[in-house]
Amino acid sequence: MIIIHVVGARPNFVKIASIIHACRQMPALQSVLVHTGQHYSHQLSDSFFKELDIPEPDINLEVGSGSHAWQTAQIMMRFEPVLLEKKPDAILLVGDVNSTVACALVAAKLRIRVIHVEAGLRSFDRSMPEEINRVLTDAISDLLFVTEPSGMENLRREGVDGQKVHFVGNVMIDTLERHRQKAAQSNVLTRLGLSPRTFAVVTLHRPSNVDDPVTFESILAALELIQRDLTVVFPIHPRTQTQSQVCGFWDRIKALENLLTIEPLGYLDFLKLMSEARVVVTDSGGIQEETTILGVPCLTVRENTERPVTLTEGTNQLVGTSTEGIIAGYRRAMEKETLPRRPALWDGKAAIRVVHILLNHW
Ligand code: UD1
Repeated sequence: MIIIHVVGARPNFVKIASIIHACRQMPALQSVLVHTGQHYSHQLSDSFFKELDIPEPDINLEVGSGSHAWQTAQIMMRFEPVLLEKKPDAILLVGDVNSTVACALVAAKLRIRVIHVEAGLRSFDRSMPEEINRVLTDAISDLLFVTEPSGMENLRREGVDGQKVHFVGNVMIDTLERHRQKAAQSNVLTRLGLSPRTFAVVTLHRPSNVDDPVTFESILAALELIQRDLTVVFPIHPRTQTQSQVCGFWDRIKALENLLTIEPLGYLDFLKLMSEARVVVTDSGGIQEETTILGVPCLTVRENTERPVTLTEGTNQLVGTSTEGIIAGYRRAMEKETLPRRPALWDGKAAIRVVHILLNHW
């Protein structure tokens, strides 16, 4: 059985690492890895391949950055000849980025089976590009692997045939568990002059937060207050860096004495940084899940989350984007100790379940 695995952007690499690792143990599965090139810089792409032991992609579509329509269309045009030449039995997609939906569309129209890992998550917010990618990808997938109960319920409500859907757990947590020991040896705290539990980590990159100057300013005002209390480490995503310059916030950020802006980190350094943080402030999807397992309080600066299990059975709080909301969440997080939590099937074995189902199904 030939499966084409597709990756494009940073969170995809973390998820595919576990699946490729599990596939290596099953000789009946032949894997071809396609990188769309949506993320291409060393920090957002190559370093993840090296640290997570992902093989060099067999094919790189080298699409690069552009508007959503341009990027999606370019991926589709470049991916179609790959499918025509390789004639795989299926393609396997992870997550919700533009590369995911683009490749799903191409395969579905060529009647090649589509497998979606991390299916069923819904923020119910169509202003979020990822939500459109999720809904469309799931609608044309033949086999859907789900991380949390809400995903099962969402797919049932959307009328997806239950036989196609499997609750397997979280492949991103598989990768975390497999690299935890190695990450513990990272010297990132020494490099940054930090002691455990005395700092906050911030990541921001959602267009709804950083492309809108009013929202960005409101989050920034909260960070200004937090850095009076705790050192704030802010690895800056390229989109956020550009937008902070466009919005005129860059000098203000750089002037904050106790806020440290750094380049995006590799996987192992970031895992170490997160695990030793007192609190994490983020708009990322995956970080809500990782902090739950690590037992670090997470303040999600969004109005909704497609990962509600991290609220009900994790360490996550949805604090919105107002300065007051973020600060109130911060105070709650500082009041008590937070323990690691483990939602059902987030046990490091999700990818093995995926692979067993693939072998038994087809
Ligand atoms: C994408 C995903 C998002 C994911 C995020 C993780 C979509 C719609 N969004 O958002 O779901 O959470 O990746 O980072 O697919 N750039 C670089 N180097 C790169 C790639 C991009 O500097 O390797 C810069 C470019 O200026 C680009 C900008 O970052 O325009 C945004 O990149 P893009 O892939 O469009 O979206 P992300 O914001 O990274």
